[in-house]
Amino acid sequence: MPITSPIGVFDSGYGGLTILKEIEKQLPGYDLLYMGDNARAPYGTRSFETVYEYTLECVKWLFGKGCPLVILACNTASAKALRTIQQKDLPILFPGKKILGVIRPTAEVIGNYSKEHKIGILGTTGTVNSQSYKLEIDKFFPETKVFQQACPIWVPLIENNEYESEGAQYFYDKYVKELFWQDKNIDAVLLACTHYPLIEHLLKPLLPQGVQLISQGNIVAKSLKDYLKRHPEVDEKCSRQGLIDFFTTDSTTDFDQHSTIFYGKEVQSKHVQL
Ligand code: DGL
Repeated sequence: MPITSPIGVFDSGYGGLTILKEIEKQLPGYDLLYMGDNARAPYGTRSFETVYEYTLECVKWLFGKGCPLVILACNTASAKALRTIQQKDLPILFPGKKILGVIRPTAEVIGNYSKEHKIGILGTTGTVNSQSYKLEIDKFFPETKVFQQACPIWVPLIENNEYESEGAQYFYDKYVKELFWQDKNIDAVLLACTHYPLIEHLLKPLLPQGVQLISQGNIVAKSLKDYLKRHPEVDEKCSRQGLIDFFTTDSTTDFDQHSTIFYGKEVQSKHVQL
């Protein structure tokens, strides 16, 4: 019998909790270990080097805790750090362990949502500038055109609990308009940032009629479920006692307070000193 441990779920802060929630739903009973690097969030406006360095440090901590598999439940980290960690670091530091992101599983299905073959991507500046969605979607849906819009103000608005304010509305209008100015026939829009599901209800009314707004939580969770089915050698290393633990690099009091909004349930986190 192999030694079993929880699946690690990493995010720059709170946003990954929207993904964790869906993983918990679709993989009930699996132990999960969530880590938010709140002390150094947001990642969205940071350079490639910095996001890579921070993400690697957190991933090492999760693997050090025994996780056989880590999900980067953060678009920015998936865009800027995943490939290098997968290809360069993992084979040397943790051979046999696995790491997956959120962009590829989303890119694998997103084209199915658009009849016009025109997809809009709303994300952080880092995710948009990396061009990761364009590159990945092109592999699976080469006939689909991808239009991207960076929305740098949205994460701070959400984190500061100002997302339902009048001022926030201005920035929802602004970025949604800027996306549709690129092409008015976009008929599917992806929320390519783990924070954005919180404002889905505020964005929906701003979209032209018939446009689908897509959150990626359930897409990522479904893809993880399929992955574990296809990889029984990884699945058998995942522990299953229904335990979910939360760790943050910053204040546990702040984490526990904010998390309820993202996760929908009360959380009791522990502090990590990296
Ligand atoms: N979790 C990040 C993402 O999905 C958003 C927050 C941040 O910028 O750190 O891109």
